[in-house]
Amino acid sequence: MIVLSDVTDQSELEAQIAQSQKMQAIGQLAGGIAHDFNNVLQAIIGFSDLLLQSHRPSDPAFRDIMNIKQSAQRAAGLVKQLLAFSRRQTLRPTVLNLNDVIADLSIMLDRLLGETVRLDVAYGRDLWPVLADQSQVEQVVINLAVNARDAMKGGGTLTIRTRNVPAGEVESDGADEVQVDAVLIEIEDVGTGMPQDMLDKIFEPFFTTKATGEGTGLGLSTVYGIVKQTGGTLSVKSEVGKGTTFRIYLPRTEVEQRPAAVSDGERAPAASGDLTGSATLLLVEDEEAIRTFAARALTAKGYRVLSAESGVEAAEIFAEEGDTIDLVVTDVIMPELDGPGLVRKIRAERPDLKVLFMSGYADGASLDELPEAQFLPKPFTLKALAEAVKRELGRS
Ligand SMILES: Nc1ncnc2c1ncn2[C@@H]1O[C@H](COP(=O)(O)OP(=O)(O)OP(=O)(O)O)[C@@H](O)[C@H]1O
Ligand SMILES: [Mg+2]
Repeated sequence: MIVLSDVTDQSELEAQIAQSQKMQAIGQLAGGIAHDFNNVLQAIIGFSDLLLQSHRPSDPAFRDIMNIKQSAQRAAGLVKQLLAFSRRQTLRPTVLNLNDVIADLSIMLDRLLGETVRLDVAYGRDLWPVLADQSQVEQVVINLAVNARDAMKGGGTLTIRTRNVPAGEVESDGADEVQVDAVLIEIEDVGTGMPQDMLDKIFEPFFTTKATGEGTGLGLSTVYGIVKQTGGTLSVKSEVGKGTTFRIYLPRTEVEQRPAAVSDGERAPAASGDLTGSATLLLVEDEEAIRTFAARALTAKGYRVLSAESGVEAAEIFAEEGDTIDLVVTDVIMPELDGPGLVRKIRAERPDLKVLFMSGYADGASLDELPEAQFLPKPFTLKALAEAVKRELGRS
């Protein structure tokens, strides 16, 4: 008997590891696609913005261009979910009490669940703090709640529970095995449930059983990516006809608040109305379309723009014109000399030089080393770029 159950454990563990390796591979693929797509979308949005500026709103072309831009922005929304799945989002972790997060969310959840589904929250006592990005944790709970609602077409109860779980009792999901104390969020429904062959696929991007237009299959991929990027684990138990339980374990943290490593251009207070300026900018971007759009947009605002198509070329320009440059606006990922490498090199001579990074995804490690830089997520609009430049120039 004992031998038999050992064998079962062993093959279960192997299956878990195979599953987690599969997710890793898909994540890499998705992340790569998302990065390239972001650059393409950046060009479409950027040039739409330039066109919008040269057309009056009464011009019939104006609405067509607006449509192009809005479609590109919709695509950018999908890419963002893919980036979440491949764990390449910029997270802004703070110390959180998950009870507070869920309490704040519960009114919204109630509305989301509609008339037929009841929400029941059981708050655990004396929850340990966790270090996580609040809006991302909210996203996790919302995605799981929406799925649960969809699985309970005939009505039912969605139960959310929180509880502290000591290291030894945290469920493993076969990946990055460090056992630490964790806080559990459990989300249980009494819906349709899922058979095992489906459970094997639900976290994959674009796996959906919903009709076109009703689901893209990115909800659970996003959940998976966020939990993993936060250092947590997750599990799912399901029985056809009975219901499904998702468990999210987020690692316990100490109470001290860690400051966010990078500032996020989107969320910082907007610069005042006037977006023109006369400073000299060094613009570094290896994608020609983006470089052209950004240079034109910034030149139109009055800036003097020096463009470089690589980190190496930027370093050369800096060697000649360094004294005149007020701000470096640079891509993060480039061949040979990347954005962070370039900035380190330049700052060896001008330690206080201002820098704005533009990137399709957060390369966490390299950005962490550069706390003094602003970060503008791609794809951005002309206005967002002009605002970020103005804000960084105005920073003392
Ligand atoms: N609680 C659940 N009960 C039953 N089936 C579920 C549950 N959660 C997810 N599923 C199944 O897993 C599939 C994938 O879920 P996921 O959230 O990733 O995508 P989606 O809900 O189909 O679309 P999206 O979330 O992008 O709108 C769903 O289509 C559904 O078949
Ligand atoms: Mg979903």
